Amino acid sequence: MSWQSQPLNKRIVAFDKELIHAGNKGLAIDHEEVAVEVDALMATMTLSQKINQLHGLQPASIDGFYYAGGDEELGLAPYKMVDGPRGARAGMATAFPVAIGRAATFDVELERRVGLAMGLEVAAKGGNVILAPTINLLRHPGWGRAQETYSEDPWHMGAMAVAFISGAQNHVLTSPKHFALNNLEITRFDLSANIDVRSLHEVYLPHFKRSIQEAAAASVMSAYNKMNDVYCGEHPILLTDILRDDWGFTGFVESDWFLGTRSTAAAIDAGMDIEMPSTHWYSEENINEALASGELNEEAIHRNARRVVYQNVAWQIADMEVPDERVVECEEHIALAREVAEKSFVLLKNDKILPLEDTPGLKVALVGDLADTVNLGDRGSSFVTSSEVSTPLSGLQAFIKHASLHYFRSDDDLTRLGEFDICIVVAGLTYVEEGEFIPTQQQEVEEGELARGGDRETFALPDHQRFLIDTVAGVAKKTIVLLEGGSAIQVTDWLDKVDALLMLWYPGREGGHAIANVLFGNCSPSGKLPVSFPRSMDQLMPWDVNSLSVDHSLLHGYRLLDHQDQEPAFPFGFGMSYTTFDLDGLQIERTADHFNVTVSVTNTGTVSGVEIVQLYVSCTDSTVFRVPKELKGFGRAELEAGETADLEMNLGDEDLRYYDPEQNGWVLESCSYDLQLGVSSRDLPLSSGWLFDGVEWQPV
Ligand code: GLC
Repeated sequence: MSWQSQPLNKRIVAFDKELIHAGNKGLAIDHEEVAVEVDALMATMTLSQKINQLHGLQPASIDGFYYAGGDEELGLAPYKMVDGPRGARAGMATAFPVAIGRAATFDVELERRVGLAMGLEVAAKGGNVILAPTINLLRHPGWGRAQETYSEDPWHMGAMAVAFISGAQNHVLTSPKHFALNNLEITRFDLSANIDVRSLHEVYLPHFKRSIQEAAAASVMSAYNKMNDVYCGEHPILLTDILRDDWGFTGFVESDWFLGTRSTAAAIDAGMDIEMPSTHWYSEENINEALASGELNEEAIHRNARRVVYQNVAWQIADMEVPDERVVECEEHIALAREVAEKSFVLLKNDKILPLEDTPGLKVALVGDLADTVNLGDRGSSFVTSSEVSTPLSGLQAFIKHASLHYFRSDDDLTRLGEFDICIVVAGLTYVEEGEFIPTQQQEVEEGELARGGDRETFALPDHQRFLIDTVAGVAKKTIVLLEGGSAIQVTDWLDKVDALLMLWYPGREGGHAIANVLFGNCSPSGKLPVSFPRSMDQLMPWDVNSLSVDHSLLHGYRLLDHQDQEPAFPFGFGMSYTTFDLDGLQIERTADHFNVTVSVTNTGTVSGVEIVQLYVSCTDSTVFRVPKELKGFGRAELEAGETADLEMNLGDEDLRYYDPEQNGWVLESCSYDLQLGVSSRDLPLSSGWLFDGVEWQPV
């Protein structure tokens, strides 16, 4: 060691809870004080006033908002709820990249800022509840609403969800949805999601639990489907035993719209508080009938109404300030949408062609109808319209100053493409192929209208998209594919024919500008896959989009691929950069109830970039079945060329437990734990083994 002190490496904390949860009003509620005020108010309420708290006020939205509860006489303002996970679905608003794209950033600080921005825009429009985030686990990439959720992994999902919730709850209440197991779209109103207790707690609920216990989510939306043949909207195990008795949830549960409530007494007793968007089962007439028949008692009505009034008082809905409307689509939010899009793109292939240089003489062809199409995602409840959207074409036209750019529509004469140095083809999916299933709508609709959507029966691109890629690759000197879509897409049938592939997801209103910045190297791509890209559907569990009975287990996504020793096209957590990185210096220190994990990350390349380090844990010699490995942490290191940072992650013992149905609780098993770190689920160069004997931890 030279006599000069070595410069200390930059220190990065992977998940800074204080930063992420700052300003979340749900975490600042004085529950003792609120309880006194609420009980005093409830004591004055008539049965009719309590019943009025239990349903929405009209079937159709008013200016995008759904009203519920409130009572002018009691000084309670109504809840004004609005979708959704992509932005404020009320008039024009900032259309952010879809949630799965934001998840590909693996950047919780950034997702917090997105939550702040969306919450602010909802509040500025007069709303007080954002019906987001969608956090149904991506059990199968063919799910119609894959774009709307964050991940196939519960830990990753939970991290992104609490960041969004804490950001948004600086301004409005959130409503993580759909509780629970809403993983198939076309049969969502009738299917039964069948699941054992262990898989439910270990895989499909942890992110809901974190949303409530860590980020104090103010409400929860229940799911349309059944769980083990009981509708989620009237499931006492979900809505009372788990949500309230086990997790301590003090907020309210609202149903999904119309078919989310299926009864009067059963739903009220189970713990469904608000029937949305308007009343049917919870009408005064139906409730009084249920009371008269003895099916229902007034205590249940009082209990549910109290939860609705509780949040109204706790959040001081009546006194909520309405920010200036000019914050909607303000420059700061537009810049944020562009930053998220840039960080969401996943570079899946790059045969030394990217980044491009905007030099005179460079002849660039941009090909495909999608290049000139506003493609913001599905036309379901999460649809958002912005006053301006940059497409790949408009983004490149605005960026390129010296090279020449020529646009070809899909049906133009593409035989001329051989004259160009670079051919960029924009291909992928639209709202026609995937989206929330709305049976009353058409598959293809006019601009701005809702569409039918549905699940995908195949991963393959539509024939006309594959034909376009094949045609371009057949004549071009160099082919770059920009892929738009909300989930895994089959690429193996054409990947070898192209020189580069960049997954764009649905990149939001700033997508075109972000594409130009990344293609020409203003920033390096840094996204990582939040969903495995299998080689084909055959690598996954059976997938029947018309199924009315769907079995769930511990195995799906990378867990299933690992268990079956299958090599995907691209693994969960994979993504390339314009630079290279090296990980070393793994240090693991044991404290009373967690591991402090530190790893040095060095940018060994020539340009700045970001590496996302992932921590997986395998339990070897366990006495119960275990999936081969599980993600239990990640951190993001933004580094200049040559720079090194020490990335710190905290791995809590609670994240190492498995759920034992016999004990109906969590167990930290005495066995060996292998902590593995790397840059994708299939690239984990560093590891550290530990043995837990029930009391002590020993490195092995
Ligand atoms: C839909 C969706 C839900 C949405 C609600 C209101 O059916 O399932 O996510 O928030 O209706 O639009």
